[in-house]
Amino acid sequence: MAPNIAVTLVLLIGLFERCSSATAAYNVVSFGARGDGNTDSTKAFLRAWSAACSTSVRGAATVYVPRGSFLIKPVVFSGPCRSSRVTFQMDATGTSLVAPSNYWELGNSGTWILFIKVTGLSVYGGTVDARGHAYWQCRRYGKSCTAGARSVSLFWCNNVVVSGLRSMNSQTMHMAIDNCNNVVVKNVKIRAPSSSPNTDGIHIEASTGVTISGSTIMTGDDCISIGSGSKNLWLERIACGPGHGISIGSLGDNANEDGVQNVTVTSCVFTKTQNGVRIKTWARASNGYATNIVFRNLIMKNVNNPIIIDQKYCPGNQGCPRQSSGVKISRVTYTNIRGTSASKVAMNFYCSSSNPCWGLKLQDIRLTYLNKAATSYCANAGGSSSGVVIPRSCF
Ligand SMILES: *[C@@H]1O[C@H](CO)[C@@H](O)[C@H](O)[C@H]1NC(C)=O
Repeated sequence: MAPNIAVTLVLLIGLFERCSSATAAYNVVSFGARGDGNTDSTKAFLRAWSAACSTSVRGAATVYVPRGSFLIKPVVFSGPCRSSRVTFQMDATGTSLVAPSNYWELGNSGTWILFIKVTGLSVYGGTVDARGHAYWQCRRYGKSCTAGARSVSLFWCNNVVVSGLRSMNSQTMHMAIDNCNNVVVKNVKIRAPSSSPNTDGIHIEASTGVTISGSTIMTGDDCISIGSGSKNLWLERIACGPGHGISIGSLGDNANEDGVQNVTVTSCVFTKTQNGVRIKTWARASNGYATNIVFRNLIMKNVNNPIIIDQKYCPGNQGCPRQSSGVKISRVTYTNIRGTSASKVAMNFYCSSSNPCWGLKLQDIRLTYLNKAATSYCANAGGSSSGVVIPRSCF
């Protein structure tokens, strides 16, 4: 590229970054997208993406999605990109990406909006609405349905920021982070009815260095779920509920799987959720593990199982011959957790008989049940407690 063109582009991008309402470097509308809610804009988005992704300008190339409602079918934004950073910029309010109203159009692809192998990706603003109602309805009545699609997925991406995104009514998970490194998710809002099946908020799998903060998640399954091979996770200031809480697991699905380590969950509020903080494993052989986990500064509001380790997961009692989990759970700290339990057992440590939990620590816990005393339950659980712990520890 001639140096003067490069300079002009850099200046234009600089201008765009200072004044985000200015025309973007790659506005999807100039690639043929129509924000009328009906026109299929998938190809236009792909053309804008590939233009941004192949820009060789140093610094950011931007795909800009202006106000409007853009109909998008399953789409894959792939890297690696020549640009060092690609920004997918949507207006904070007024930009939405909507799925086709017929759920069969997301088909069996498993993903709706997928970013794959992109290093240096930012996704800002916008609402994605998968319009999952008809799909959940199909699932509920057990008719033949498609496998369903996750709304926003990041596979093999590094150095990612997702900020200000809203996800509504995903068919299955709202967001999946799989095999990624160094991901920051902040200020996102996730929403689906509490009755919607398997609509996890954010699922993290086989990823390292993921921070999720300042986000509100109201959905029908786990607010955040953490799968095998994940480490160095920081979850902070999450408002969860309705939903199934924050879960590590289910781990131990496979005999051979990577463990989960170094996870901190702090300053979160759980409102009327099925669980608060949970570690869940299959009751069968596995070399998986969960270690160095910290849960602290949490508020529980009428939560069914505020603190729970459940190593007996085996739906339908299929494929769990000895009914004991091989997943090793150790060094889990619970500090400053307060509020109300919706069931009598506020702390439930149901650990594996073949691999008892060790190094569990309780410090400053105060959980009540309908203003009465709650209880704790232990099976194969070892650890210590300090400070005021109510209900009393059963270690
Ligand atoms: C644990 O994870 C946090 C948050 O991602 C990170 O800052 C810290 O360095 C990690 N600790 C270790 C020992 O890797």
